[in-house]
Amino acid sequence: MAIRLGDEAPNFTAETTEGTINFHEWLGDSWGILFSHPKDFTPVCTTELGTVAKIMPELKRRGVKVIAISVDPLDSHRSWIHDINETQCTTVNYPIIADPDKKVATLYDMIHPNAIDNMTVRSVFIIGPDKKVKLTLTYPASCGRNFDELLRVVDALQLTAQYKVATPANWKDGEDCIITPSVDDEEAKTLFPKGFRTVKPYLRYTPQPNKV
Ligand code: BEZ
Repeated sequence: MAIRLGDEAPNFTAETTEGTINFHEWLGDSWGILFSHPKDFTPVCTTELGTVAKIMPELKRRGVKVIAISVDPLDSHRSWIHDINETQCTTVNYPIIADPDKKVATLYDMIHPNAIDNMTVRSVFIIGPDKKVKLTLTYPASCGRNFDELLRVVDALQLTAQYKVATPANWKDGEDCIITPSVDDEEAKTLFPKGFRTVKPYLRYTPQPNKV
């Protein structure tokens, strides 16, 4: 069955380019991103894995651990990493799961046979420190993902986990937020001392609460 938001991220133990990993133990108290790529030595995947290596400082700043997966074996991953580092001018600095028996890919429903046979699609799972799934994305093999969007979503998820706010369309870190409808105006005055502006009773904006 498909994994839904709020579900516990299924645990597994798998071989990776950084040794054997028990997923939940490896996550610890961190946020996590698990993302699949269809196949080693393919062009779009090469750019994606290089991009993730380059944004690692941004991920670390947000307390996010990243792990990639494909159904290719470990020796293939190891040799492909050389190509990624060379062509993308970076150093892959996170584990890649080898899943030749498709155990993890099946557990996470990453194989969509009507789209591509025998490989994973481009799945993303963002997992909170409580091990619950906070976001899922599925892209086709032909379309590389926007990793700036993943950073943006992590910012929104971390903010809304801490404060009674939601984020409007195209929100970016530092922009005004929406006060959640369950908060009435009296409570809003206490929770949001910077104030708020009411466009409609159900549409109230406040400066991002965790920014000075
Ligand atoms: C790619 O990463 O370029 C790719 C992988 C599988 C199918 C098509 C493209």
